[in-house]
Amino acid sequence: MEKLLCYTLFLLGVFYELNCFQTYVTLIPNGSNVTDPCNADKTISGVGHLNSNGGGDRNQFGLDFASNDRVWNSTLCNMDSDNDGITNGAELGDVNCLWVASDATTDQYLTYTGITHPGVDQNNVQC
Ligand SMILES: *[C@@H]1O[C@H](CO)[C@@H](O)[C@H](O)[C@H]1NC(C)=O
Ligand SMILES: *[C@@H]1O[C@H](CO)[C@@H](O)[C@H](O)[C@H]1NC(C)=O
Ligand SMILES: *[C@@H]1O[C@H](CO)[C@@H](O)[C@H](O)[C@H]1NC(C)=O
Repeated sequence: MEKLLCYTLFLLGVFYELNCFQTYVTLIPNGSNVTDPCNADKTISGVGHLNSNGGGDRNQFGLDFASNDRVWNSTLCNMDSDNDGITNGAELGDVNCLWVASDATTDQYLTYTGITHPGVDQNNVQC
């Protein structure tokens, strides 16, 4: 279904990348502030994908996000998708799972440092 939708948007001339993954980064806390585990100078656009530029197969965080109906709530926040001992919420700065995508005032609950990748075990990075 998702692929069909993306393909349709592509045929309609709507920029594929923008519509098929860039929008998702606004649905998770600090979604555009995750650095590439292989290159600390680069922020990545495909947090839910194996390819850090987005697209293609999803990593475990992307799969969990999809199976949670693409909703950031305490269910997804408390999961540890990459099994590195740090919950998705802690990796993305939403330590207490209070951030709500549709409510910008909840940005105040996000912490300012220590954003790590929720789909990549920092202790076992394959570059
Ligand atoms: C990323 O962090 C900057 C400040 O460092 C903030 O302005 C921006 O809203 C953050 N992006 C997201 C998606 O939270
Ligand atoms: C989070 O959202 C998913 C998808 O809508 C839902 O199934 C789940 O029950 C929600 N979790 C909580 C704690 O509300
Ligand atoms: C995370 O997002 C919040 C809200 O936009 C921002 O204040 C904070 O600086 C971001 N953290 C990082 C490490 O970019």
